[in-house]
Amino acid sequence: MKKRRGYVYLAIALTLLAIVAAFIFRGSEEQQEIGTVKFGIATYREDDTFISNMMGSLTEIASSYEEEFGVRLNLGIVHAQNSQSTQNDQIARFISLGYDVLCVNLVDRTNALYIIDRAMEANIPVVFFNREPVQEDLGKWDRLYYVGTDASENGRLEGQIIADAYHRDPGSIDKNGDGIIQYIMIEGEVRHQDAVLRTEGSVQAIRDAGIAVEKLDGGIASWERHTAAALAEQYFEKYGDQIEVVICNNDDMALGVIDMVERLELDFSNIVGIDGTPAGREAIRDGKMLGTVVIDYEAQAQLIFDIAYALATGVDPHEVADVREDQSARAPMYVITAQDYN
Ligand code: BGC
Repeated sequence: MKKRRGYVYLAIALTLLAIVAAFIFRGSEEQQEIGTVKFGIATYREDDTFISNMMGSLTEIASSYEEEFGVRLNLGIVHAQNSQSTQNDQIARFISLGYDVLCVNLVDRTNALYIIDRAMEANIPVVFFNREPVQEDLGKWDRLYYVGTDASENGRLEGQIIADAYHRDPGSIDKNGDGIIQYIMIEGEVRHQDAVLRTEGSVQAIRDAGIAVEKLDGGIASWERHTAAALAEQYFEKYGDQIEVVICNNDDMALGVIDMVERLELDFSNIVGIDGTPAGREAIRDGKMLGTVVIDYEAQAQLIFDIAYALATGVDPHEVADVREDQSARAPMYVITAQDYN
């Protein structure tokens, strides 16, 4: 009798063991199915403040995702030092190494075809970010996406900062009291959609607020702080007190203008930027700059991650992000001015 009971216990134990083993086996099979998701990430250059902030966020998002969901992610990050042909080679290498998805910050946004063709041949989806391919290229395949910001709206809000300051206290902006705002425009890049649209949008917003404007001068500073400082110095030497406002396509260039103001010990803070970098916000808090439009780079990194991960794992990106009909997703933005620190 005792012996029979022993057999029953043994049979129960073996059945339980088999169930547990089956679960473990299934788990490892699933893990094998998803395996490690490999993201090939390529930026146009390494030393761009906004892009490196965004890359920092992307890396953090990926590691918390790994921890939370127990998946393995491999982020390969390369920088092209401003050369499209270098970037093309980097992408070809990611493809040959079997990466699952590509996240590309193009050097030349009008020159995306090489990358698109290689990706299509290898059936590897691409999320372009920050430097927007032309619609004709993006529309070539339904596994190409773009994540960025609405640059016209960035510009409109930037111009609004100036218009609001003018309406609050006209004399603080229109220093010579001629009813016209004389301004200098410092632009990012000739063919960058954010530069072109921000430049147009900012000036248009001031006009739309019923204020006349006059452009004294302007130039390209490649989004860079030191280039903007040098350019602004030339303008201040040439136009001096005639300059009432300096409009910059991003915060780094606004900070360059501030560097010049401080070096030459000028009394000038009617400077606006876009991005909301930590240094930009600090300058606003310290009264060195009128305001900025914060492009939420963390939100932008989250969009890149969500869409890329969805594509790599066979999920429709529309299920995880607010994707527009043109296969783009746009990060939110908001304004910060000196008033916010009062
Ligand atoms: C940002 C700039 C950045 C540029 C790089 C823009 O959207 O505002 O700060 O340098 O993108 O492409």
